[in-house]
Amino acid sequence: MRIDIITVLPELLKSPFEASILKRAIDADLVEVHLHNLRDYTTDNYKSVDDYQYGGGAGMVMMIEPIDKCISKLKSERPYDEIIYMTPDGERLNQNIANQISLKENIMILCGHYKGVDQRVRDHFITKEISIGDYVLSGGELGAAVLCDAVIRLIPGVLGNETSALTDSFQDNLLAPPIYTRPREYKGMAVPEVLFSGNFPKIEKWREEQALKRTQDRRPDLLNE
Ligand code: ADE
Repeated sequence: MRIDIITVLPELLKSPFEASILKRAIDADLVEVHLHNLRDYTTDNYKSVDDYQYGGGAGMVMMIEPIDKCISKLKSERPYDEIIYMTPDGERLNQNIANQISLKENIMILCGHYKGVDQRVRDHFITKEISIGDYVLSGGELGAAVLCDAVIRLIPGVLGNETSALTDSFQDNLLAPPIYTRPREYKGMAVPEVLFSGNFPKIEKWREEQALKRTQDRRPDLLNE
């Protein structure tokens, strides 16, 4: 998979890809991530990417021309399965969307800033709009980092234990059950006995019950999806 990210703040997006699982995935050639500075596609001396809103109103708007130049250059080099715009009014990111995107070959992500981008960019270049939650960030970069993390860990071979993404919370619309490790008892706090029974069907049944109970208690909305 290849991910191209268009941003005015590439430095904000560097560190997530320089550590941990994302770095390992890149080092193992399971994914390529390329950052593109939108200012490299500007045409004036000031390297402007934004301008005042037509019709008046507070806040600047990202202009269509540099974005068109950058997207067009990338599209001339390879086909893209999805051109995603990170925006608080997009479709709210969930595990299902992350699963779908993880199956793509080439994706582009545009990070918005200021009040957002000229609507014509959204109408003519963008194929998918994603929000990471009902709150407003100062730019799309942190949202893009969240999206990339959620997607990249699903690419086969990225996680050490191939099965571990399958037992994540949300994979079957259930939250994950409680987990324990050594010591068996800590300051009077004991690990549930069933986990030492050696009876794996029984343990699996307990985990399913716990997952269901946790979902009913915390996120009953997931059970109606
Ligand atoms: N840009 C600003 N707020 C955002 C959000 N909640 N999700 C994605 N991109 C954003």
